[in-house]
Amino acid sequence: MDKFFEYDAVEWNGDKTGVKIIDQTRLPSEEVFLTLKTPEEIYDAIYHLKVRGAPAIGVAAAFGIYVAMLPIEGDMDHFAAEFGRIKGYLQSSRPTAVNLSYALQRMESCLKGNIAVGVEGVKRALLAEAEAIKQEDVQMCRAIAENGLTLMKRGCAVLTHCNAGHLAVSRYGTALGPIHLAQQRGLVPKVFVDETRPLLQGARLTAYEMVKSGVDATLICDNMAATVMAQGKVDMIFVGCDRVAANGDTANKIGTMSLAVLAKHFGVPFYVLGPSSTIDPECATGGDIVIEERPAREVTDFEIKVYNPAFDVTPAELISGIVTEKGVFRPPFDFGKEK
Ligand code: MRU
Repeated sequence: MDKFFEYDAVEWNGDKTGVKIIDQTRLPSEEVFLTLKTPEEIYDAIYHLKVRGAPAIGVAAAFGIYVAMLPIEGDMDHFAAEFGRIKGYLQSSRPTAVNLSYALQRMESCLKGNIAVGVEGVKRALLAEAEAIKQEDVQMCRAIAENGLTLMKRGCAVLTHCNAGHLAVSRYGTALGPIHLAQQRGLVPKVFVDETRPLLQGARLTAYEMVKSGVDATLICDNMAATVMAQGKVDMIFVGCDRVAANGDTANKIGTMSLAVLAKHFGVPFYVLGPSSTIDPECATGGDIVIEERPAREVTDFEIKVYNPAFDVTPAELISGIVTEKGVFRPPFDFGKEK
């Protein structure tokens, strides 16, 4: 799979100036790159969705905690205490995507495993670990794209929600990975892009990605999904995931569950695509997943009570398959083996 974007959503600046991201709040109209150095800048970028999408948040936090630790001097006790404080702070930026705590946990284990090499040695190990987390995600996304492609036929039409593409991961995407790959291989996929209220990740980010890679894409408002399905225009639904419980219940962008309900009604296969790092064995069911609530001002400036959950949980029984780098899992979900 060729690299089809000239940048990744999260990059490490080799000159040690900071973590480079493309500001996703400015897309699609402007491609603005930011360099993040301090814990506050990294927290702010994640909280305000300048960098977003479950795997990309994890990679940003991994490089972010490394860059935040660079100026810390002193003995190992002080270094480890500062690491713990910054880790807790970054982890509190967004609760639902498991990839954030997964990446920060890996960085902490790396610190603990390298205490003997001293503070400067630990810093080098932290950089290597952040690079490994990103590279593993790149490899997983490549494999997800290949596995997802096995579900698609030439010219088929996929409906997708939010943005689970190149911008949301280390490279290529999860739900959009097979679509980019199908396009590269001349299979002429068609895509219906849900606009994804209230922050319009579909209308802004997926639309940008699809146009950039030349895919035949059609933007629809969220409330038009039933109509295009009723018209028989949708062959399958591909969505990403922020946390998958052990039983297959899946948290993803608010509005995902309603698509799954519609898909069942219209007999359209509904697939979730994500790396195995998004499966959380600590969550037995979707009821254990913490759902982020976002500020009212994202929905309206008017003085009225607002309920603004950022994610919903699609029950496993509505999911036709979960595609990871290991293959396509079918219900009843048992992530120990490919089905
Ligand atoms: O609030 P966001 O934009 O971070 O939500 C992103 C999603 O819901 C994606 O579908 C999910 O993180 C998967 S990204 C490969």
